[in-house]
Amino acid sequence: MVERGKLELRRKIIQCVNKYLIFNKKTMTKEEMIDLLNKDLTKEYAAAVQYIQHAAKVTGAQYQSIQKELIVHANEEIGHAVILAEQIASLGGDPTIEVDKRYVSDDTPEMLKQDLEGELDAVKRYKERVAQANELGEYGLKRALEDILIMEEEHARDLQAALGM
Ligand SMILES: [Fe+2]
Ligand SMILES: [Fe+2]
Repeated sequence: MVERGKLELRRKIIQCVNKYLIFNKKTMTKEEMIDLLNKDLTKEYAAAVQYIQHAAKVTGAQYQSIQKELIVHANEEIGHAVILAEQIASLGGDPTIEVDKRYVSDDTPEMLKQDLEGELDAVKRYKERVAQANELGEYGLKRALEDILIMEEEHARDLQAALGM
C-alpha cells in the first residue's frame, strides 16, 4: 500500500514537471528571428566585400584557382544577402544595411584562413537558424536557409582544399 502511494506521488510529480516544462517552453518570436536574420545579413554583406578584396589581392601560382573561386563566393554571398533581405521583409521586418567586420591581410594563406573562419561561423549560424525557423513553423524560410547552409558548407570545403586541410 505504501509502495503504491509512493508510485502515485512520483507519477503526479512527473506530471507537474512536464506541465511546467511545456508551459515554460521558450519558443522564439518572429521579432527575435528578424533580429537574428538581420545579424546574418550584416555578415553576408561583409563576406561579399571581404571576398572581392581578397580575390584582388591573392598572389601565388598555386592560388590561381581559389582566386577565381573567391569571386564566385562573393557573388553567392550577395545572392544570400538578397534572399535574407527578402525573407526579413516578408516576416514584416526592415532589412539592415549595416555591414559586419571585414578581415584583411597581405598574406594569401592568412586571407584564406580569415575567409574559412567566416564560412565555419556561417555554417554554425545557419544550422541554428534552420532549427529555429522549423520551431517557428516558417517552412519557406527554413528551406531558404537550408539552401544557403549547403552553399556555405561548399565554400568552407573550397577554402579547406586550397589551404591543404
Ligand atoms: Fe553566405
Ligand atoms: Fe559563404
